[in-house]
Amino acid sequence: MPQLEVGGAQPYTVTVEAGALNRASVPETRVALIADAGLPTGSVVRAEQAFRPELTITVPRGDACKTFEVLGGVLSRLAAVNLPRDGAVIGLGGGATTDLAGFAAACYLRGVAYYSVPTTLLGMVDAAVGGKTGINLPEGKNLVGAFWPPRAVWCDPELLGSLPPAVFREGAAEVYKHGLIADPSLLSRVLSPEFRPGQRGFETTLADAVAVKAGVVTRDLTEQGERAYLNFGHTLAHAIEAVTRHGISHGDAVGYGMHYAALLSREMGGADLSGHTRRFLEWQQPRPLPPLDFGELNAYMARDKKADSAGVRFVLLHDLARPYLARVPEETLQSGFGEWQAELGSLRSLNF
Ligand code: GLY
Repeated sequence: MPQLEVGGAQPYTVTVEAGALNRASVPETRVALIADAGLPTGSVVRAEQAFRPELTITVPRGDACKTFEVLGGVLSRLAAVNLPRDGAVIGLGGGATTDLAGFAAACYLRGVAYYSVPTTLLGMVDAAVGGKTGINLPEGKNLVGAFWPPRAVWCDPELLGSLPPAVFREGAAEVYKHGLIADPSLLSRVLSPEFRPGQRGFETTLADAVAVKAGVVTRDLTEQGERAYLNFGHTLAHAIEAVTRHGISHGDAVGYGMHYAALLSREMGGADLSGHTRRFLEWQQPRPLPPLDFGELNAYMARDKKADSAGVRFVLLHDLARPYLARVPEETLQSGFGEWQAELGSLRSLNF
């Protein structure tokens, strides 16, 4: 069974294997399952057979679950069954579901054991690994949260079989990002026709992408340094998500944001990697953007979590696999935005 170890104060294992969910179990006897309401019944049944939860709480699909209201409802349900301190919460769903479930586990009784079963590509290669949990505020994404690492993660590619193609492609943005910041061999593998669940080599590519994340969070759980590089493309992406009220999904927004970050990287003296990010957008076919206003986006970017008291910092690339953090002058942000918009307009396949 391909297992990746995530180190740190409480090391844990990420299993990447078709059928991993069937073989999963947890030592806790009292367990609550928090599941994405949009999952196929079969996925929930498989998780219930594996973990025997005493209650299953379904939460709205996507970022609609990352609110105080949904969090409060989940915590009340855990309290209503008196889930004890030595109980466990298991998150089953995409990145939003596992962010919420992990945060509920972190808050309930000041913290109970948490396990993660991501059901989307995005969740498997990014959100479910590394212990970032949380919810959104109207002022921005992920502004409330906690580092609460899972005790184990099961990435079962069989769960991806039922994903609509657009949801699969949006999640590929995080795999591609791992290629840009750390493992360039992933770039061509993502764009190949073999990059589909059930195809030869898919599981290896998935495991290699998870390995990038596992390595980074082992070395830097709380984002004192290199973990910030996982946010390549995310500063604009989170702003797009916020201004469109999540009308543009996270993975699509990351696809757009990576292209912006590649253009900024070149403007700041780095290699021109925008061909890679353009090819990815052509492959990804993200949902078309509504008209966007730089000033409005910039206000959200200023609240990015990488900002410190001296202002916002962007993850840029000197070259492939050579990320760094930089403050970018506002005029460069604005001119880069103009170029980015013009380039998107020329990607006719995106229908702008
Ligand atoms: N998704 C970025 C991180 O986990 O740090």
